[in-house]
Amino acid sequence: IETPYPENEPILDYAPGTEARRKLKEALKEMAGKRVEIPLVIGGERITTGDMGQVVMPHDHNHVLAEYHKASEREARLAIEAALEARKTWQSMRWEERCAIFLKAAELLARKYRYLINAGSMLSTSKNAFQAEIDAACELIDFLRFNVHFAERIYREQPRSAPGIWNYLQHRPLEGFVLAVTPFNFTAIAGNLPSAPAIMGNTVVWKPASSCVYTPHLFMQILEEAGLPAGVINFLPGPGRLVGDVCLKDPNLAGVHFTGSTAVFQQMWRTIGEHIATYKSYPRIVGETGGKDFVVVHQDADVDQVVTALVRGAFEYQGQKCSAVSRAYIPQSLWKHIRSGLERELTSLPVGPPQDFRNFVNAVIDRQAFTSITGFIDQARQDSTSEIIIGGGSNDRTGYFIEPTVIVTKDPQSRTMVEEIFGPVLTIYVYEDDAYLETLEICDKTSRYALTGAVFSRSRAAISLALAKLEQAAGNFYINDKPTGAVVGQQPFGGGRASGTNDKAGFYTNLLRWVSPRTVKETF
Ligand code: SER
Repeated sequence: IETPYPENEPILDYAPGTEARRKLKEALKEMAGKRVEIPLVIGGERITTGDMGQVVMPHDHNHVLAEYHKASEREARLAIEAALEARKTWQSMRWEERCAIFLKAAELLARKYRYLINAGSMLSTSKNAFQAEIDAACELIDFLRFNVHFAERIYREQPRSAPGIWNYLQHRPLEGFVLAVTPFNFTAIAGNLPSAPAIMGNTVVWKPASSCVYTPHLFMQILEEAGLPAGVINFLPGPGRLVGDVCLKDPNLAGVHFTGSTAVFQQMWRTIGEHIATYKSYPRIVGETGGKDFVVVHQDADVDQVVTALVRGAFEYQGQKCSAVSRAYIPQSLWKHIRSGLERELTSLPVGPPQDFRNFVNAVIDRQAFTSITGFIDQARQDSTSEIIIGGGSNDRTGYFIEPTVIVTKDPQSRTMVEEIFGPVLTIYVYEDDAYLETLEICDKTSRYALTGAVFSRSRAAISLALAKLEQAAGNFYINDKPTGAVVGQQPFGGGRASGTNDKAGFYTNLLRWVSPRTVKETF
């Protein structure tokens, strides 16, 4: 049996006058007009707790889109029990049948629920139509289809046998449950983190970010409609402490699939370390965390290409991508042109709610993000080595809006040059043209994170030098392109250093973490 060879899902165009735009607008209108109630889903049952959280629109924070029931420790324990129970049948189901469920979910997303999930992503996380489409539709569909294909590849991969001997691997799921803890910024990642281990026969407890419950809840329903048996994935919105207090302390914890902040990931790892002797087996820890992603421009780069990459890489989805460009090193001789390009492009970028399709920049996710990002901007204002040359304004009256902001600094170690901001702020360091090598060294030295990065140059020598000097500074390295927007199956995604375990989402290497193979040698 061969799984269908996956193609990347084509990106739908929402240009004026298209049917897609009309349908998406209808979905937005309908969704904004009603307030839904989101339950937990444990062992296939809808569970309500009465302890409510709210899903508000980041661009209109008085508008409550949904209320969700929050789990307590009790429900976290029930979710673990349900996962362990479901494991008994799920792990012995034929892999083709497990995969069929996820392929069906991909089709449902592509053909039946595309507008719904995109509308949910736009309203609940403030993404424009294009950003929603490439994430909640295309990337999520791609994750499902490609992971099925990679699963097949893993199951097929077998050792050599010899005359009179048959050796084979049984790719067993892990013994216990997998905990998926998912972020707010990509519905695709939120959907992939529980799905990838489940495709490989594991059962999962899924704790979504409190700032992104709406689209995960839609995806959970889609999985159920696709035939996911009860208890295989248990949907557990609620406070973060459930993770540390209950899930990570359970002796049946077999794995963690995480995307989120470095601090939370490190705390989770510490908790696991403290309990290491109590688990049945060593939990697999797979995490993608922060980034401080760079662009290094060489003096022979194409200026227009650089400007486009900086605008898109730093400011799409308000810079709230772990891959977003957040620091750039520009040679003195190109600075004037690049600066005027940025001024031209950024000052005309429309900022506002995503329901108005003209807006490129929408709101940041919540008050906490707004306060933190504006704090960085304020600090740069006070810093004598830095100057805000574009933007810097913000307004949280209706929604959490922050202008695309560009800071120029004389100090390559200044705070906004080295710390993760996770917002629409780009800091630029202008270097003397003949200091390219030193600049690469500074970039590497200040890369506590190592997620994504890019170099722009037309000369092979400059590109080769960047590849060599920045060898460990990025898990995804782009030559003459923005360092965001990795495509599943094309640019396996993930980084090292403080950015994560680099198991590469959207590739078979990630799926290998969710199996514990048994080698069988049979002698005849
Ligand atoms: N995979 C996303 C990107 O490449 C970030 O998580 O932009």
